[in-house]
Amino acid sequence: MTRIGFAYNQKPEPESADAAAELSRADEEPPSSGASNGSATATLRAPAPAPDDEYAEWDSAETIDAVARALARHGEVIRLEARDDFPERLRAEQPDIVFNIAEGLRGPNREAHVPAICEFYGIPYSGSDPFTLALCLDKARTKEILRANGVPTADWALARDASDVERIVARGWGYLLFAKPVHEGSSKGITERNLAKGEEALRAIVLDLLERYDQPVLVETFLPGPEFTCGVLGNGASARVLPIVGMNFDSLPAGALPIYGFEAKWLWDRPENPLEIFSCPARIPETLRAEIEDVVLRAYAVLGCRDWSRIDVRLDAAGRANIVEVNPLPGILPDPADNSCLPKAARAAGLDYDALIGAALAAAAARQGVVLGSVA
Ligand SMILES: Nc1ncnc2c1ncn2[C@@H]1O[C@H](COP(=O)(O)OP(=O)(O)OP(=O)(O)O)[C@@H](O)[C@H]1O
Ligand SMILES: [Mg+2]
Repeated sequence: MTRIGFAYNQKPEPESADAAAELSRADEEPPSSGASNGSATATLRAPAPAPDDEYAEWDSAETIDAVARALARHGEVIRLEARDDFPERLRAEQPDIVFNIAEGLRGPNREAHVPAICEFYGIPYSGSDPFTLALCLDKARTKEILRANGVPTADWALARDASDVERIVARGWGYLLFAKPVHEGSSKGITERNLAKGEEALRAIVLDLLERYDQPVLVETFLPGPEFTCGVLGNGASARVLPIVGMNFDSLPAGALPIYGFEAKWLWDRPENPLEIFSCPARIPETLRAEIEDVVLRAYAVLGCRDWSRIDVRLDAAGRANIVEVNPLPGILPDPADNSCLPKAARAAGLDYDALIGAALAAAAARQGVVLGSVA
């Protein structure tokens, strides 16, 4: 039987001491909006303490169990949590292939560590390679590659320190700007207050993000149009875009900005009161669908994505599709009640959760000549 290693990082359970400490720290940094003017925003905010976003990228036990169940249809699953002992355990187990969803422990190249270790031991693995994972975790470098290859993305500047901030502010951009930490995902550090209206606001936001996230800050022109996210499955000529997910910003609390940031992902979307934020397939004209798919597949190719990804797109003031960012390790919450774009797009294409995981695994296996079993 095929032996499938399964690499992941599991979120600490709330009852664990560490997590409790993290949650109690959350009050120091409420991710609430300074920009919103709506009182409805305040009343709709969850009564529970705001979660600290440190572990926002890691997966829950529920997701990990669901992926393990899906993988078990194709072989024996060997769980390899990506902790400090991962290299030794991987080396000892020698699986035929590793299915990788590990977000990594530390540093701006954290998503690249598990694939790099697999490569070191010559063990096949799923998903993008260390280079692409590290590249896509640097949103500025990603944009350089996109721009160099003619794939549309918003104009930007990178602030590494306070003097950069002054240089960027002095440019006098004259339009709305959006700032975000350059190396994060899951909307860590992306709240409504990141939209800068004017020089003073820009300076304050960028200096604040530099200090709190201890990494450069990407300043981009704000893309004012509708937002979409696209799941991609497969490789080379057979890479395909799943039905496009459109964001219904009307579902956000009154007065909220039309962005899918920390508040929308983690505060306003509660199991007891879910946001109806996605529509899939997005109701858009055929020409726009074709344009978005083209831009997304070009981004996937030039960045070297493999097997699967989720790619965010927004329209600029002229209505043209621009890449916002690329997620080669996409979020995959299993419960259809949860707002998770890739599983949702897959369902719209007729692929249930197990079929989605199976498709990513099959794409990885085919590329590397690994034969998968079929377990009854
Ligand atoms: N230049 C921009 N113009 C307009 N909105 C933007 C821009 N950049 C980011 N946003 C908004 O902020 C949201 C989060 O940004 P982004 O996708 O870069 O963050 P992320 O944390 O990597 O997201 P994910 O949860 O998809 O990993 C976007 O979905 C979009 O709504
Ligand atoms: Mg995103």
